[in-house]
Amino acid sequence: MCLASGMDVGDLEPVERTALLTEYARALDASAARPILADPLARSTVDEIDFPFSDLGVTPSVRTLVALRARMLDQRVRDFVTVNPCAVVVDLGAGLNSMVFRVDPPATVDWFSVDLPRVIQLRNALLPQRENARNLSASVIEDDWAATLPRDRSTAIVADGLFAFLTESAIVGLFRGLTTNFPSGMLVFNDYGRVGRLNRITGRLAMRGTNSPHQHWNFAGFKDARHPETWNPRLHLNEEVSAMFEPEAAAFPMGLRLASRVAKRFPPIARKARVLRYRF
Ligand SMILES: C[S@@+](CC[C@H](N)C(=O)[O-])C[C@H]1O[C@@H](n2cnc3c(N)ncnc32)[C@H](O)[C@@H]1O
Repeated sequence: MCLASGMDVGDLEPVERTALLTEYARALDASAARPILADPLARSTVDEIDFPFSDLGVTPSVRTLVALRARMLDQRVRDFVTVNPCAVVVDLGAGLNSMVFRVDPPATVDWFSVDLPRVIQLRNALLPQRENARNLSASVIEDDWAATLPRDRSTAIVADGLFAFLTESAIVGLFRGLTTNFPSGMLVFNDYGRVGRLNRITGRLAMRGTNSPHQHWNFAGFKDARHPETWNPRLHLNEEVSAMFEPEAAAFPMGLRLASRVAKRFPPIARKARVLRYRF
């Protein structure tokens, strides 16, 4: 019997490889007895890739949090395009995420998934095409990354799992540029609060020699959700929510369920799994 071989991803740079972890977590969720996100495209995409996914160390807690934050981000983008049916959506560091298929916006919405060139090649090869959805090969830390995007419509900027891998100065530059590149809209992303230097070093050491994205964590983060307003006063915080307090917490795996209980008294834990939303 001949087995079809999967897509080779051996030439991905380490930071590009982080896209495999989140997609794998969503694929595991899709196969779980009680899925949170239930995204069948994540499963079929992972099935087409030749990679030792089990080396990524995706625990039940990681699977749960990745699926839940995707669901929280989806809901906010869905609400945005419902109120703004002629909106533009820009998914920064989109990886292989099939958010556009889950949100399923009206045909009047233009959707751009932005990532580094090799990841965009993979996206083009593995994900189905969709009218009004385009994949854009660009590095979001370059000044002109948004040069070809529409600038005259309300815009939802979403980022799932990107900012941890950028430096603070790159994030500040990106946040400042958003309000000159786009006239008005929303910025929504997942966030981990302040991640101390010691935490980052320990994470790197613990994961040395593995494929874990902790190796490439760059951003120390911030505690106060209003902090990005000091980078760009045109950003206004609208919402700070934690996955730890979502209704799904009742069915979290045991360790995570315990963390969600502790998070009620200890805000730094709640911040580790937060979603932040700003308007501009
Ligand atoms: C953890 S993955 C998350 C991918 C996707 N959002 C998801 O939820 O699966 C981080 C992604 O950010 C992308 N990325 C990192 N630096 C980038 C940059 N400067 N410009 C664009 N994308 C970048 C990586 O290639 C990777 O796909």
